[in-house]
Amino acid sequence: MQSTVDDLRLKVTKRIERPGDVIEFYLTSETPLPAFRAGAHIDLRLDTGLVRSYSLVGTSQDPFCYRIAVKLEPASRGGSQWIHSSLVEGMQVSASLPKGRFALQNTEDSTFVAAGIGVTPLIGMADELHASGRPFTFYYLTRGQGAFDHELAGKTWASSIQRHDSLANGRFDLSKLSGSGNIYACGPASLLDALSAQVPKGRLWIEAFSNDVETTGGEFEIELASNGEVILVPEHLSALQALLEAGIDAPFACEEGICGTCVSRVLDGQIDHRDDYLTEQEQAAQDQMALCCSRGIGRIKVEI
Ligand code: FES
Repeated sequence: MQSTVDDLRLKVTKRIERPGDVIEFYLTSETPLPAFRAGAHIDLRLDTGLVRSYSLVGTSQDPFCYRIAVKLEPASRGGSQWIHSSLVEGMQVSASLPKGRFALQNTEDSTFVAAGIGVTPLIGMADELHASGRPFTFYYLTRGQGAFDHELAGKTWASSIQRHDSLANGRFDLSKLSGSGNIYACGPASLLDALSAQVPKGRLWIEAFSNDVETTGGEFEIELASNGEVILVPEHLSALQALLEAGIDAPFACEEGICGTCVSRVLDGQIDHRDDYLTEQEQAAQDQMALCCSRGIGRIKVEI
């Protein structure tokens, strides 16, 4: 079943200012919330109508509470600005079920690279790895004081943490990440791109929190598998935008090819994949696509 952004109704019960323009929120429910795998995220529907994805901090220990942290991004499209200025204790917010594919793999040797607010999904993954008795190194890269320094200092695995403050020590040297195990990274696109260029495929697991994706391109057609209706997607619109304009109720959240909410089955036709959600193998199979950013070539038949 497709999760929607209205599956959960959560109440802001705590709002805590953290260093680096970050606010941590405790979002609670009076009934037990679904458990989640460390690394998962939820989508929040903001009062502005925007839907934004945020990683869940930690593990599923408290069944009545999810934690998220939101960094103020002046260049954002308004999500973090509204949250910082308007989401206060006592307010209710709609949210999706926890989801996502950023999760621990079954290997011995692991390294975490947490840059800035990208630390949020990695804390719970490190908690889980530590609980299973497997060793790891946790690089926490910040500019100045880290929003989660306080929490990491209290971890039983604190001795596995390597702090790097780029204000004091300059750019982090990625060549430190030698070894043969998995690398789990979350942070800005520049860091993830650099890691992708350096670390062999199959060893790197990344979670992007912003994706500068080009959604426009050549005109194509979408045939709806349900009734045969054909919708033209012009050059300046994404497939999702064309469907919404045609009155089709297609689910979406991030609109950046990250969250997977808009991924739909493709029964026929060729896809020009542009998302960061599907794996290389899934993209190569040409049987599903992220409608918010990927495009078709000619005509594609889609199940919505
Ligand atoms: S809406 Fe998030 S991947 Fe398309």
